[in-house]
Amino acid sequence: MFDELLIQRQSCRNFDASRTVEREKLESVLKAGIVAPSARNFQPWNFYVCTGETADKVRKECQHGGANAFLNNCPVLIAVGIRQKPETAGARPLNVTKQDFRPLDAGIAVGQMCLEATNVGLSTCIIGWMNCSAIAEILNTEDEIKVVIALGYASHDDVLRPKNRRNFNDVVKFFD
Ligand SMILES: Cc1cc2nc3c(=O)[nH]c(=O)nc-3n(C[C@H](O)[C@H](O)[C@H](O)COP(=O)(O)O)c2cc1C
Repeated sequence: MFDELLIQRQSCRNFDASRTVEREKLESVLKAGIVAPSARNFQPWNFYVCTGETADKVRKECQHGGANAFLNNCPVLIAVGIRQKPETAGARPLNVTKQDFRPLDAGIAVGQMCLEATNVGLSTCIIGWMNCSAIAEILNTEDEIKVVIALGYASHDDVLRPKNRRNFNDVVKFFD
């Protein structure tokens, strides 16, 4: 079942504009992000669910230079923001390894949301081509907007594509 989801999840660039996303399904996608793991359980993410006029404004900021035209048919845009990190938490610096794990944490949450969307019959496309600061302004937030998740139903003629990925042996190194 789970491996089926991994194969079925693909970036949708062919949404069905006539179908809206049911509230229950939307919430299950958002909850899949909320339960994601994060460094020191900081949960750096905020999810800004945009529909209607707000989605229209956010959509425009993802379409500079003619990019992402397919978003015109997508009913829901979820902007993923990361919140400011406190300098210290308790006695130890928050980030003991000197790494800022917040983008990684947000990425894990985004991955879980995309898989849950597939699980409930929805489709997604993660959008990174956008004007992040313009979107933050639209949403009136200090968060750093990292990606936007386009969410909706795929058009009935959308097809499952084979995964075009690097070879297993190029990616994986085993050490004894
Ligand atoms: C951080 C990130 C940003 C992306 N930005 C865009 C984008 O702006 N527009 C787009 O059409 N696809 C975008 N994608 C989708 C990738 O192109 C896609 O995941 C990749 O080609 C693999 O295809 P698949 O998702 O269908 O398996 C993005 C994906 C990620 C993870």
